[in-house]
Order: sequence, then C-alpha cells, then structure tokens
Amino acid sequence: MRRVVVVVAAALVLTGCGAAGAPEPTATAEPTTAEPTTAEPAPAASSPAASVPAAAPEPAPTPSATPAPAEPDASAFDIDTGASLQVVVNKRRPLQPPDHRPELVAVSSAQEGGELVRPELDAALAAMSQAMRAAIGEGTFVFSSYRGYERQAELYSGYVARYGQAEADTTSARPGHSEHQTGLAIDVSGTGGACRLATCFGDTAAGRWLAEHAWQHGFVVRYPRGLEHITGYEWEPWHLRYVGVEVSTSMHESGAATLEEHFGLEPAPDYAP
Ligand code: DAL
Ligand code: ZN
Repeated sequence: MRRVVVVVAAALVLTGCGAAGAPEPTATAEPTTAEPTTAEPAPAASSPAASVPAAAPEPAPTPSATPAPAEPDASAFDIDTGASLQVVVNKRRPLQPPDHRPELVAVSSAQEGGELVRPELDAALAAMSQAMRAAIGEGTFVFSSYRGYERQAELYSGYVARYGQAEADTTSARPGHSEHQTGLAIDVSGTGGACRLATCFGDTAAGRWLAEHAWQHGFVVRYPRGLEHITGYEWEPWHLRYVGVEVSTSMHESGAATLEEHFGLEPAPDYAP
C-alpha cells in the first residue's frame, strides 16, 4: 500500500515499466523515436488410460511406441533467441544477444507518443484494445514499450540511485535482462488512465479485463501477484508480454501463471552468480 501511494504521486513523470512505487527517474529525457521508450483449472489429463478395456489387457507398449503428449510441446518454441516471439528473458536468462534490436513499428492504438513494438504485437494489441473497448468502454493505452539496452541501463541506474540496488532489482530489470528490449512487452493502462503504473491498476475495470482476457489475444500478465519467487519481480498488472495465442491459450488452459512454469524453466528470483 505504501508503494501505491508513492506511485500515484509520481506517475505523471513515468514512462517505463518499473516498480509499483518506484517512479522512472529520467522519464522526461526519453527520446521520441528511436528509443521511446487467470488462471483456469488444469485441463483433464489428455491421454486417459481409461481407454484400455479392463477385460482385455493390452500388451505393454514397446519402448518405441510414441506416447501421446500430455502437455503442450514447449520444445516447439524457440525460447532462447531474442528475435523469437516466445523468447524467455528473466534474471537467469539474459537476452541473446544483450543488445538485440528487433524489427519495430509504431504502436497504432492509443499510446504515449512514439511507442515502438514488434509488428506481431501491434496487430494483436489493436484487436485486444477494440475488444476491451467493446466490453468495458475503454481501450488500452500504451505508456512504455520497446526500450533499447542503453535506455534500460539508464532507467535501471535511476532506480538504483533512488532506491538502492536491492529495491531496484524487485522492479526494474538490469540492461540485457528486460523484456522491453525484445519489443514484445508493453506497459498499459486503460484509456481512462486510472492507476497508471500502480498496483491498483489490477483492481480497475481495465486491469481486471486484461487479466481475464489478454490471453485470448496472445498476451500474458508477465509478473503476476505473489510470484516474485519465480519471476523475480513484484506484481506488475500493467506489464503485458506478447507470446502468441498458442502459448497464451496453453497457459490459460493449464493454469500456468508464468512463462517459467509453462516452459519448465527454473525460477529466476535473482541474478545467479
Ligand atoms: N519492469 C520490468 C521488470 C523491466 O524493467 O523490464
Ligand atoms: Zn514493463
């Protein structure tokens, strides 16, 4: 609650995804172009053994038999390469390469000004914003999106200077470790602007709608409440990550709340030595 109060006071000058309570220290220096900056019950088991007739036991399957996959085939996705739509970047998995610059387009829906994202994200965002507006009367407003390595370094340093490194690391990624560098992450509010960059956004109509429906458009709320021990970051209901509809739907159906869980990766609570 302490943080919410601080953020609301500081929100006017923020542009980046940061702490629920830790304002972006250098937002006004943001360049305008190059660097402008859930869960459902688990589904039933997919390979029921009940299909085996009780009275006529089948022979044991041979080792060469192909088992029916019980989980989404995570191996079908490239989670290692910075250019992949499914890349997983966290404190234990730096962006590869660390200064990767993706193909970018200007955000075509409501945005701060000069926001850049991957084209796949922009198309999905436009559809999602339209659906959100039809449902609750306001669309999405993007206030931070792609950030290059240098911009992320600038933001992170600002947080460290203001709050110390331990606090900064709970909310701001070190350069080379931010999803914003992929062009696949956006920080949003509703077009009404309520609770921008504050955890109270999660309790607004816009925040609730996104938490419930963003998966239908290929997005996930990347840093859910109470999962800092997995993601490494405090709850950021405003930070959406585009992963594509196949992955977001799988996560919705399985109940996996984080990319780490979905792809069977180790938790990333900190920067391992
Ligand atoms: N706020 C998120 C973790 C970032 O800085 O990328
Ligand atoms: Zn963010």
